[in-house]
Amino acid sequence: MTGRFDDRVAIVTGAGGGIGEAYARALHAEGASVVIAELDVDAGESVAASLGDRALFVPTDVGDPTSTDAMATATMDAFGRIDHLVNNAAIFGNMELAGLTNVDYAYLNRFMQVNLMGALHCTRSVMRPMGKGGGGSIVNQSSTAAWMGISGFYGLAKAGINFLTTSLAHELSHRNIRVNAIAPGPTDTAAMNKQVPVEFQDPLVASLAIKRLGTPADHVGPVLFLLSDEAAWVTGHVLAVDGGQITRI
Ligand SMILES: NC(=O)c1ccc[n+]([C@@H]2O[C@H](COP(=O)([O-])OP(=O)(O)OC[C@H]3O[C@@H](n4cnc5c(N)ncnc54)[C@H](O)[C@@H]3O)[C@@H](O)[C@H]2O)c1
Repeated sequence: MTGRFDDRVAIVTGAGGGIGEAYARALHAEGASVVIAELDVDAGESVAASLGDRALFVPTDVGDPTSTDAMATATMDAFGRIDHLVNNAAIFGNMELAGLTNVDYAYLNRFMQVNLMGALHCTRSVMRPMGKGGGGSIVNQSSTAAWMGISGFYGLAKAGINFLTTSLAHELSHRNIRVNAIAPGPTDTAAMNKQVPVEFQDPLVASLAIKRLGTPADHVGPVLFLLSDEAAWVTGHVLAVDGGQITRI
């Protein structure tokens, strides 16, 4: 094999569909052994089965640290090392439509355990084996919602993901682990089409510099770059991959 990820082991959370599935397929195509860490058993099994060799489905709830510890153990048992983690899983497509002032507290607590703390749970579960194997790299899935200031609890969790990214980049550097994030803009997945039905997407597209929705494939190159050795001196960075939705100076 001649892929950038030959002999590497990567865990992708929420890889049973959408953008996470595209990450898992691309990492696998570039030589990695891939763990599909997914809550939806049917979806996770189906992606792993279609990849075949070097792919394993591990039923995982990123909102539960006991489950993410089991995810890391299952990965080590199957492949013997962990080089990369993509914290992509989130409650998104079926997210409740409520504001910060009226969202049910039990729902909000679970949402934050998954969409914010999930990235920390997975990181804490993999950091020791990753460090012992010589180091590695982590990419968190943020969103342009983190910078919009008006996206309620979804944006609050993603703003936290950005903070986790910069803080963990510093806390994990002594283990030779880099931590970065990408912030996708609106991307054509079943989950996004549920959140913003097709008939309401025109104004969204018009607000972008590049006048089309993103696709999962648009995110693959940036994420594989951040995971790879090509980004050896890049850590604590949040990269917008958003067709120019957010412009910062
Ligand atoms: N699609 C977009 O427009 C867009 C834009 C910005 C950011 N994002 C982010 O990208 C990621 C993927 O989005 P998507 O559009 O592919 O949505 P998606 O719903 O297809 O992907 C999320 C995946 O996470 C899984 N998941 C949910 N809860 C889980 C849990 N507790 N443990 C493990 N897995 C769990 C789901 O089953 C699903 O497979 C999310 O983090 C989302 O917030 C998406």
